[in-house]
Amino acid sequence: MTTYLITGVAGFIGSSLARAVLAQGDRVRGVDNLSTGRRENIAEIAHQIDFREIDLLDLEKLQEACQGVDYVMHQAAIPSVPKSIMDPGGNNRANVDGTVNLLIAARDAKVKRVTFASSSSVYGNTPTLPKHEEMTPDPISPYAVAKLAGEYYMNSFYRCYGLETVALRYFNIFGPRQDPSSPYTGVLAKFITQMLVGEEPTIFGDGQQSRDFTFVENVVQANLLGCHAPAEKVAGRAFNVATGQRITLTDTFEVLKKITGYTGGIKHGPDRRGDVRHSLAELSRSERDLGYTPRVDFETGLRRTVEWYESEMAAAKA
Ligand SMILES: NC(=O)c1ccc[n+]([C@@H]2O[C@H](COP(=O)([O-])OP(=O)(O)OC[C@H]3O[C@@H](n4cnc5c(N)ncnc54)[C@H](O)[C@@H]3O)[C@@H](O)[C@H]2O)c1
Repeated sequence: MTTYLITGVAGFIGSSLARAVLAQGDRVRGVDNLSTGRRENIAEIAHQIDFREIDLLDLEKLQEACQGVDYVMHQAAIPSVPKSIMDPGGNNRANVDGTVNLLIAARDAKVKRVTFASSSSVYGNTPTLPKHEEMTPDPISPYAVAKLAGEYYMNSFYRCYGLETVALRYFNIFGPRQDPSSPYTGVLAKFITQMLVGEEPTIFGDGQQSRDFTFVENVVQANLLGCHAPAEKVAGRAFNVATGQRITLTDTFEVLKKITGYTGGIKHGPDRRGDVRHSLAELSRSERDLGYTPRVDFETGLRRTVEWYESEMAAAKA
């Protein structure tokens, strides 16, 4: 049996990865400090996983957690652009120092490979669309700088120590268990949960900003491919993980109106500092070398996500 260590396992993406690894019959060890992650996200699988409440800054505990592990999927981070602008030091400690600790622990435990949750924010506001991995990164926020530093550390640990690493640049991920209550969460979780209870959602800016929204199941697929694709094609490299299509926030709101049956309007707030205007991924490198093609399109993912929030709300009422 293969053992996967998932950092950030109590978070939105980490908890989806844990379910997928268990579903394929493998073993999950999970690490999280429960800062933004929640025990409820892993409650129904708690008896099947080896969960350890550990902070990435605790190198000794991370070293213990890496013992006997085959693959690491490194998802733990403070995942927020606005938070990183308010507290660049805290962002750096969790997202850069934490990542270096994880790499040291994985190297020392002779882990076979590490996948890393990077971000489309490393591209910044460069006008070229779609964004492809050969472009010069132009990170704006401290969060984006930390993700790029993480990528460079991944590459460095491959080149200096032979630890195989794969950086995955996620483009706006959405799906079940994304926390809608956090002020920093993805826009879709907020829109959906507000529209389902008849509350007006808020668009920051004019609504013409566009995103390559990506259903979480595609991210799961990319991480599993990242662990198992041939090293000569993927080790030390970065890959886009996206749907390869973009939609404006205004159009997203219209699609959601149809799915949720919401009949109200929308509020507009000020632009958010550090946010990029347009985002769209080129997927040819991921298709060719990682073997990745998105399996779930935007609207199908949106329907599944709405259904999930509906069932959660019904369960909370019962
Ligand atoms: N959701 C997206 O759209 C998106 C896009 C690009 C990149 N990412 C990246 O994907 C990863 C997962 O994001 P998510 O959306 O699931 O967020 P999330 O907040 O749900 O998950 C992050 C998890 O990391 C944990 N964590 C944070 N700091 C930690 C620390 N110092 N030690 C141990 N655990 C710690 C949190 O408690 C949480 O469970 C993050 O690295 C994020 O930056 C997410």
